[in-house]
Amino acid sequence: MSFYQRVLGHPFVYNRIRPFVVGGIDWSPLYEKLESGPGDVIVDVGCGTGIAHDYLRGFAAYFGFDTDQVAIDFARQNKSGPNVTYTCGIFTAEDIARIQPTRIILAGLLHHLSDGDALSLLRMCAQAPSVKRIATSDVVYLPKQFVSNALAYFDRGKFVRKPAQYVDLITQAGLRIVRQDVVRSHPTNGKALYFMTALEPGG
Ligand SMILES: C[S@@+](CC[C@H](N)C(=O)[O-])C[C@H]1O[C@@H](n2cnc3c(N)ncnc32)[C@H](O)[C@@H]1O
Repeated sequence: MSFYQRVLGHPFVYNRIRPFVVGGIDWSPLYEKLESGPGDVIVDVGCGTGIAHDYLRGFAAYFGFDTDQVAIDFARQNKSGPNVTYTCGIFTAEDIARIQPTRIILAGLLHHLSDGDALSLLRMCAQAPSVKRIATSDVVYLPKQFVSNALAYFDRGKFVRKPAQYVDLITQAGLRIVRQDVVRSHPTNGKALYFMTALEPGG
């Protein structure tokens, strides 16, 4: 990981400075798309510092995966609880078979993955019989959105795409798009725009 990526990914910068730069962050529209409830087994791939716990309202079990040890340590210290498990590493076919998640969160992940890696992950989720719903949110390039596009350019993720490119990967993976939106990082002041989807198997 480069120095730039380490600095931007530091929990203090990620949780405190970044919301200020983008004019506030409210991920409610993403978690509404997940439609999760108290009976769900949730996997959060690219869980970062565990921000999902600011939005989830009950689950049977939660499993967060992230390749960044610093983020996982922060999540373990600040966002733990009953039936909450964090793993530092990628999410594998063995993990999905063992955990049998019903809902999968890919919040800010796909723009960190190459087309090949994103497609493998999405296919793995599409083919797991237990999975009912996947919610995604990503930095995006949009026509005439100069401020948001500039913020996207400086994002840590190296694979920021246009909406059609995300849609192409999703449909190639065999997932059906139930809903897709471009959402401001914050409803009143947000300067950054995100491409969000609700997905279900059977595309
Ligand atoms: C933009 S952050 C999103 C964090 C969190 N989901 C959120 O909504 O704030 C993307 C996260 O994905 C993680 N990541 C990147 N590639 C990954 C991979 N292959 N497997 C798991 N996590 C990954 C990064 O370390 C980073 O914490």
